[in-house]
Amino acid sequence: MLNKSGIILEYFPSNLLMAQSDPESKLSSADALVPRSREMARLSLKRLFVFSLCLSALFFLIITLQAVVELGQFEGGQYPFIVWWSPLTGETGRLGECGRNKCFFTINKTYHNHPATQAFLFYGTDFNIDSLPLPRNADHHWALFHEESPKNNYKLFHSPVVTLFNHTATFSHFSHLPLVTQHLESLELLTSLAHLVPLSQKNRLRRTLAPLAYVQSDCDPPSDRDTFVRELMRHIQVDSYGACLHNRDLPAGLRDSTAMDERGFHRILARYKFVLAFENAVCDDYVTEKLWRPLKLGVVPVYYGAPNVRAWLPSNRSAVVVGPDEAPERLARLLRRLDENDDEYEAYLEWKRPGRVTNQRLLAEMQSRKWGVQDPMRENYIDVFECMVCDRVWENLNRRKEGLTPKTWRAEASHLRCPPPRTFAFSAGPTGRATLRGIWGPSYRQSEKEARALRLFADRNKNFTVGQFWKEVFAD
Ligand SMILES: *[C@@H]1O[C@H](CO)[C@@H](O)[C@H](O)[C@H]1NC(C)=O
Ligand SMILES: *[C@@H]1O[C@H](CO)[C@@H](O)[C@H](O)[C@H]1NC(C)=O
Ligand SMILES: *[C@@H]1O[C@H](CO)[C@@H](O)[C@H](O)[C@H]1NC(C)=O
Ligand SMILES: *[C@@H]1O[C@H](CO)[C@@H](O)[C@H](O)[C@H]1NC(C)=O
Repeated sequence: MLNKSGIILEYFPSNLLMAQSDPESKLSSADALVPRSREMARLSLKRLFVFSLCLSALFFLIITLQAVVELGQFEGGQYPFIVWWSPLTGETGRLGECGRNKCFFTINKTYHNHPATQAFLFYGTDFNIDSLPLPRNADHHWALFHEESPKNNYKLFHSPVVTLFNHTATFSHFSHLPLVTQHLESLELLTSLAHLVPLSQKNRLRRTLAPLAYVQSDCDPPSDRDTFVRELMRHIQVDSYGACLHNRDLPAGLRDSTAMDERGFHRILARYKFVLAFENAVCDDYVTEKLWRPLKLGVVPVYYGAPNVRAWLPSNRSAVVVGPDEAPERLARLLRRLDENDDEYEAYLEWKRPGRVTNQRLLAEMQSRKWGVQDPMRENYIDVFECMVCDRVWENLNRRKEGLTPKTWRAEASHLRCPPPRTFAFSAGPTGRATLRGIWGPSYRQSEKEARALRLFADRNKNFTVGQFWKEVFAD
């Protein structure tokens, strides 16, 4: 997802183009060499070779000189600098074009105090209290990109930290660049019948397969899904292929977690009537490929995760949605009934027929989003995020030039929010069996303290040491 084209390829050709249109540029002296090169071509092959070597050396020298000239323009502040405070993109320097606006994007932190630096971009998963770009200049935009599960960095999910940022791109539909559908490539793929196994065949396969499959290798996450599934397995047969609650093996070639997107794996899942699609965390809009994969394959997801998932489902009958107070035994009864009743089961696949995706919100989102997923024809969401910030930086630069007051943007607490993790009520307390299960609650509460401490230091607007930070966290 994160691979972006390299800086060298993108950077130099555009310099070269600029140079060619510039009569004062050093390249015009290279143009003068061209007729001479034709003359030389008549001479011996050896001399030609030596000459071409010199010519290419000159060529590269010119390109390098041009780069230096370009950097000189940056030094003069012609393009705003936008510094990724994360190694995410791996780009040490790239002049990015966002329509009419250009910004220089870099992961090089030495530009922290550069006069052209206008914005800092943070990636939630590696957002660290260690060495934040403080003090923060009054004009510095801070922007947060975080598409992942809260379990990867809880302290961001509290309002003292979220509201430090001016711009956001998160899985929440409230954010400035919502990534709710980040795991859905297209409506065409969603409604595709390519993998659909006819119900008659699914019924025959039931002689050897359970009605539902579970494939999880990240065991005991904050959603406490394994507790639920363990109990569910006492009431209905579940084929569990992943490391968690494992009871059935995948063919040898598919055991790697990277095989999840392979056709062979899809074929195995597609033979089931239901797939347990349980997210690792339970927050509004946190909807992952766990939901979309079975929908694409024509399997009914039994979904637990985003409490507002119905807002994104293709129709009001496309998944069995499990609530936080669902009893596994009751769910097992419902699934058995659907397993035994073909008409009732097929009602859950009706939405796959042409024109039957009735969720206007999903349709509108897929139509209007500016980025693609694994789509070489479209920009990815990181490019779009970078350009959102670049455009807003330019908007204020232009307003300032025109003597207008700059605009302000602020992230709201709603841009990244998730309630504290809870365990299922029917299974009281952590047990010796699941060591991780008990840590999420305390870890969330701890992250609230970290968020408050971080806010305190950010408001003081001075850099601080890790030691000072932890002292503050444990002060009360
Ligand atoms: C970062 O930029 C500085 C100049 O500002 C340069 O000396 C240094 O080599 C750069 N680092 C990387 C990793 O590109
Ligand atoms: C589901 O949607 C269909 C068609 O949009 C509608 O006729 C039906 O009343 C809805 N059912 C529920 C339970 O909302
Ligand atoms: C960015 O956010 C900070 C903190 O809320 C605020 O002081 C500043 O005015 C904002 N800047 C812009 C450009 O919105
Ligand atoms: C804060 O930054 C300054 C200058 O960058 C540095 O000299 C100082 O050691 C830093 N202080 C802390 C507490 O990190």
